[in-house]
Amino acid sequence: MELNLKGKKALVTGSSSGIGEGIAKCLAREGVHVMVQGRKKQELQRVVHEITANGGVAHFIEGDLTRDEDVQRIAERTLQAFQRLDILVNNAGAFPKRGWLQGSPQDWLDLFNVNVVAMVRMIQLFLPQMKIHGWGRIIQIASVAGISPSPSLPEYGATKAANINMTISLAKDLAGSGITVNTVSPGPIATAGTRALFEEMAVEKNWGKEWKEIEKKVTQEMLPNLVGRFGTPEEVGNLVAFLASPIADFITGANYRIDGGRQA
Ligand SMILES: NC(=O)c1ccc[n+]([C@@H]2O[C@H](COP(=O)([O-])OP(=O)(O)OC[C@H]3O[C@@H](n4cnc5c(N)ncnc54)[C@H](OP(=O)(O)O)[C@@H]3O)[C@@H](O)[C@H]2O)c1
Repeated sequence: MELNLKGKKALVTGSSSGIGEGIAKCLAREGVHVMVQGRKKQELQRVVHEITANGGVAHFIEGDLTRDEDVQRIAERTLQAFQRLDILVNNAGAFPKRGWLQGSPQDWLDLFNVNVVAMVRMIQLFLPQMKIHGWGRIIQIASVAGISPSPSLPEYGATKAANINMTISLAKDLAGSGITVNTVSPGPIATAGTRALFEEMAVEKNWGKEWKEIEKKVTQEMLPNLVGRFGTPEEVGNLVAFLASPIADFITGANYRIDGGRQA
């Protein structure tokens, strides 16, 4: 299938690792010029290097998305490099494990700043120029926790529910504009961070040492899904590339689960 993405310009927040890195690489493989973003310069340089070594076009910009001034600088630098932005992927996020009685009100506010308000900052800065061009894609990376929250990460689930909700509001606001807004909600994805979390848990639970063994145990005993494994950043990237493409013009305000059928 030809996605007709060649030459489009995209920014993927939180693409110095994990799912964001997978999305940036998939878009670049389709000929999209990608701005890679995060806080760790070395990781950003690595991702850009890997994309360009593969024949893609990528730049990077560092910055903390919880700070207005950083986000302003990220927007200016992106528009300077690309002249326009066609695709905004709001992926950056954090998932601290705190129970109901451990997370303070300030912890809740801080997580909402990273997982929700950072997306709003990006949307407010890039939307005006998308409106001028009459075409655009805004994609929020939420989580299945936004629909089916876990008792041990209450504020995380609440931020992800907010992501799904804000997508629908924005899609309605942009009716007839040529700009679509969608959510992608992954289930467990085998990023370095997720693997480290479960590898630590595996020691206590006697789940073994090899990732394949641990993944099997987690999908059998803790997070079952119909496919029987974790997803990969590339699989999320493929879905995002489709939604970002002109052939997905008729899809807006939607929430796509990519979770191996966990919520089915
Ligand atoms: N992994 C999963 O199983 C899973 C499942 C469902 C949903 N998700 C969602 O997918 C998204 C990515 O998760 P991931 O697992 O790929 O996580 P990850 O590997 O930890 O990557 C998180 C990314 O976000 C960036 N980031 C975090 N806070 C930031 C801030 N304040 N300012 C700028 N950048 C910031 C990080 O940049 P630096 O490291 O450079 O600071 C990094 O690039 C998140 O929204 C998460 O909720 C993940």
